Amino acid sequence: MPLPASLQPSAKDPAAAAKGLTPHGLRVVIPHMGRVTAPLREQLLQQRPVTLWLTGLSGAGKSTLAYALEEQLHTLGFASFVLDGDNLRHRLNRDLGFSAAERSENIRRVAEVAALMNDAGLMVFTALISPQCSDRAMARALIGEHRFLEVHVSTPLDVCEGRDPKGLYTMARAGRIPQFTGVSAPYEAPESPDFSIDTAHLSLADACAQVLALLRQRGYIR
Ligand code: ADX
Repeated sequence: MPLPASLQPSAKDPAAAAKGLTPHGLRVVIPHMGRVTAPLREQLLQQRPVTLWLTGLSGAGKSTLAYALEEQLHTLGFASFVLDGDNLRHRLNRDLGFSAAERSENIRRVAEVAALMNDAGLMVFTALISPQCSDRAMARALIGEHRFLEVHVSTPLDVCEGRDPKGLYTMARAGRIPQFTGVSAPYEAPESPDFSIDTAHLSLADACAQVLALLRQRGYIR
């Protein structure tokens, strides 16, 4: 049965129609349901999808840890993927800056992508500063409590600044980068993360081993 005229997207308002809204703001996008269920995908891939959300300051070691974990899981026969903040800001999130609102949108988009990848059966490691507790709570809610682990890469500011791998702390201290996390923008550490890793006191191999143990303990890998 066709939609009543009042629910048809209006040709007069292409912007609203493109968003799937009628002139009255009603949503007329109706989801399709596939027949390949999450358990069927788990059976095929022989793994349980999860998003391991790495949060911490710039230079804390999030990306290094994420890519090392991805490599180790690959070797062990698990399919995973890294969603890295710096990388995504070149394409998907190229329109976003570093205001609190833009960081929230950055995190919302990455959480949606992680959720889709989990729906596809993949294990996901995100490496984003994600400085606000409320944004990380949003990510947890979007992805789902049952497949979300928050890991605080808690390397202290002085160590991150000492490393300064991209020279950004030096530029931020010189006032050349505004709103730089830890220098001129806040970082809210998680109050009760699923796990914490201080890379100042841990080798990369040990950090990976600890995260793999966590994934085993929580039943995501055998
Ligand atoms: S987040 O705050 O929105 O989660 P995201 O992880 O995507 O940030 O990007 C952080 C990376 O952007 C940093 O590792 C750094 O290389 C770069 N960057 C550029 N400007 C800033 C800034 N003002 N604050 C923090 N990181 C910045």
